[in-house]
Parts: sequence; structure tokens; C-alpha cells
Amino acid sequence: MKIDILSLFPEMFTAVLHESILKRAQEKGQVVFEVTNFRDFTTNKHNKVDDYPYGGGAGMVLTPQPLFDAVKAIKSKNETTPKVILMTPQGRPFTQAIAEELAQEEHIVLVCGHYEGFDERIVEYLADDEISIGDYVLTGGELAAMVVTDAVVRLLDDVIVSDSHENDSFSMGTLEHPHYTRPADYEGMKVPDVLLSGHHKNIEQWRREQALIRTAKRRPDLLVSMSLTDNERALVAEIISEK
Ligand code: ADE
Repeated sequence: MKIDILSLFPEMFTAVLHESILKRAQEKGQVVFEVTNFRDFTTNKHNKVDDYPYGGGAGMVLTPQPLFDAVKAIKSKNETTPKVILMTPQGRPFTQAIAEELAQEEHIVLVCGHYEGFDERIVEYLADDEISIGDYVLTGGELAAMVVTDAVVRLLDDVIVSDSHENDSFSMGTLEHPHYTRPADYEGMKVPDVLLSGHHKNIEQWRREQALIRTAKRRPDLLVSMSLTDNERALVAEIISEK
């Protein structure tokens, strides 16, 4: 997969793309990252990327020219037709399902906004999609692009052991069950007996119940679209009524 990032602050990506799993994925050729400063594409004398909003008001708006030209350059350099995604609080809320959808793409371009936002012609004619990482406003789209990149790359084939993302929170439809490791007794704080029993069926059942209990308590909204057995439905109803 190829991930192009267009940003006015490319150095912000150095640490994130060159450490840990993203670094390894790149070294193994599972992903290619290219971070480009779209200020380099400005054709005006002072390399300005923004201007005052028509109609007045506070804040500056990113002008179309540098971003249209930067995307054109990416398209002419690659044989693939990338999906162009703006990082913006106006976008659709990012979820695990969207990460899974993007992990199927051959090539994406993440565009990091700044200031008041993008001139609407960028939104209408250049972008294929707009993504928000949450209902809060960041100083720019860089952190959002890092979040999306991280969530997508870990889903690519063989980047991490596939079992570990098939059981992820959200992939399962629920939050994850609690995890424990050695020691079985840490200063009187004990691991639940069932996990030490070696009885796989009971362990699976305990985990499923714990995931449902946790989800019912913390994120009942996730349960609405899930298919549950009668017993599970009763368990969830009990937790919700206790709350
Ligand atoms: N840019 C500023 N805030 C953002 C957000 N919440 N998501 C994506 N991009 C952003």
C-alpha cells in the first residue's frame, strides 16, 4: 500500500513513521510512506497557502492552487489512482470499519488542513472523502493523519499477527475482555480462576461475557447493531438495569 501525506509540517511525521510497527512495515515493503509539504507547490511570490475568507470573518482559508497541484503531481508520479482524503472535523467520524475499508485501498492521500479549513472547491472537486478523528478541534490535521495511518497499516497483511486484530475491540463489535498475565497472584490481587483452569470452552465463555458486560457498562451504543443470543441479551439487560 502507498500512503501519501500532504502537510505544511512534514517533520511532525518523522517519529511516528520511523518507530515500531510502522517502521517495520515500511522496511518489509508492506507500505510506502511519502510526506510532502504542499507549500512547495505554491506559485505565488511569498509561498502563501492561505488567504482571507470571501464574505469576511475570522481565520484564514487554505487556497485551492497548492493542493490541486500537489495532488496532480502525486497522480502523475504513480500508476495507481489514489483516494484523496481530507482530515477535517467536518468529516465522517473515523471508526475501525473505516480503517478496514481504507486498508483495502492500494493508494491513499491524506491531506492535513490548517487554519479555518479548506476552500470548499478542494472539498468538492479534489477530495474523495473527509475524515474526522473525533468531535474536537485540533490545531491541524497532522495528528489525525497519524491516527488514521497507524490504524490502517496495522491491518495490512502480516504487519501484525492476524489473530491479534481479529479479536480487537470494535472488530468483534464489542470492547475487549480483560487480559491477565503472570503472576497469578500479585500482592493479593488475583487472576480469575477460570483463566488458570485450562478449560478452553469455559475460558471462551467467560471472555465473551466479560466483553459484553464491559460494553454494556461503557459503550451500550455498540450493542444496538449486534446479534446476541437470548442468554447474552438477558445478561446485557441485567447490566443495563443495574446501571
Ligand atoms: N483537524 C482538526 N481537527 C480535526 C479532527 N478532529 N479530525 C480530523 N482532522 C482535524
